[in-house]
Amino acid sequence: MDTVQKALEYSRANRDRFIRELSEFIRIESISTDEAHKPQIELGAEWAAAHLRKLGIQEVKLLPTGGHPVVYGEWLKKPGAPTILVYGHYDVQPVDPLELWQTPPFEATVKGDYLYGRGSSDMKGQLMAILNAIEAIMRTGDFPVNLKFLLEGEEEIGSFNLASFLPLHKDLFKADFCLNPDAGAISADEPTITFGLRGLAYFEVHVAGPVRDLHSGLFGGTVHNPAQALTELISGMHDSNGTVTLPGFYDSVRPISAKEREETAKLPTTPESYLQQTGVPALWGEKEYTPALRTGARPTLEVNGLLSGWTGPGSKTVLPAKAMAKISCRLVPDQNPQQVHEQLIRYMQEHAPKTITWEVKMLHESPWAITNTENSGVRALAAAMETVWGKKPLYRREGGSIGVVAMLQNIVGVESGLVGGSLPDDNIHSPNPRLHLPTWYRNMEEFIHFFFNMK
Ligand code: BES
Ligand code: MN
Repeated sequence: MDTVQKALEYSRANRDRFIRELSEFIRIESISTDEAHKPQIELGAEWAAAHLRKLGIQEVKLLPTGGHPVVYGEWLKKPGAPTILVYGHYDVQPVDPLELWQTPPFEATVKGDYLYGRGSSDMKGQLMAILNAIEAIMRTGDFPVNLKFLLEGEEEIGSFNLASFLPLHKDLFKADFCLNPDAGAISADEPTITFGLRGLAYFEVHVAGPVRDLHSGLFGGTVHNPAQALTELISGMHDSNGTVTLPGFYDSVRPISAKEREETAKLPTTPESYLQQTGVPALWGEKEYTPALRTGARPTLEVNGLLSGWTGPGSKTVLPAKAMAKISCRLVPDQNPQQVHEQLIRYMQEHAPKTITWEVKMLHESPWAITNTENSGVRALAAAMETVWGKKPLYRREGGSIGVVAMLQNIVGVESGLVGGSLPDDNIHSPNPRLHLPTWYRNMEEFIHFFFNMK
């Protein structure tokens, strides 16, 4: 049996144990956005570090970042061979609304072809697919390339501290290529390489009116309700076509080329597939672009949360003193998050009524990225996918954000290959997230082939 075959067999023979190990990782409640979960974040980093050590990775350590630690490791025993930087994040999203979960969020539960649990997909599962592929090769033969690891704990909150951390460790993370499994695939049957990610600018908009909550009967009609004022402002942030109205919002947006329009039209991400995946009665958005272009290549503005007044059971006739909205913009080349911050402030200056006071806070930002698909790393991935799926991968831009990708390009000078087995119906960030196990097993085989292809 040749070395590739031996590693593939190993990965097939150890699937049950791989599931048990992933379940241990999922058990750790590493929710990055919540200060109260700091000890669990630390445990998540330690679990990942211990796993790397078990694989024989060297120099494994937790590096402080000012926020949650980065796990580093290396295996550099192949002088002359390329060095692959493996990226992953061990943090996960919060679990609310808890009442909609069918299984406990942190207890991995296998049902049919799926493993349920927070982080099963996005991305403890995807990270483990790479670590399992590495284990399979290490235990059955000689590892063909050099490895470095960058596992962060703040991806789900914008990789805030990475921007100041990476410049201090440029040499440590130097590599020929970064393998990043945090993107998704179009479907289980469509191996996918992502070449574009959107950036993000995340805000809170606070509106205040009276000095205290008021009786709505005594003051309604005379005092502008801050909840109403805020929603009036929000309504004005899009026109009737779904186009964002912040002044200058599209000034630096790169036009979409005819070629990209043509290529994107061939993807199986159709209006029907969006309807089917979301359960909405009808789609919405800029009608001169297809849904695939609207989510990948066009910028957007979303209300992520609203807070005001009485939302408990029953009724309370209150005119609330204040209102708050969480609003974020997905950004595309060549938009800049700071400029969007100024545009939002300008919009508020132009439209906010005199009846209220307001404040805009910027919570975080994440850069957009376009990756180069003409390099040996992406070619090795494409070939590995073709071997495992029996067809060539599709190339597309993805609407989500992964901050590290642009930071690695700009700070360290490393290009990423964006792949991953998260599927559109995996419920990532939602209740009942799940990992499609047949895809997970294929991902392990894809990564085994990838490492041998890179030799
Ligand atoms: N893995 C996702 C992003 C993703 C999902 C990319 C599916 C491609 C396909 C990532 O963990 C994520 O959710 N990122 C956040 C980052 C944000 C907080 C800066 C996002 O996109 O909302
Ligand atoms: Mn993720």
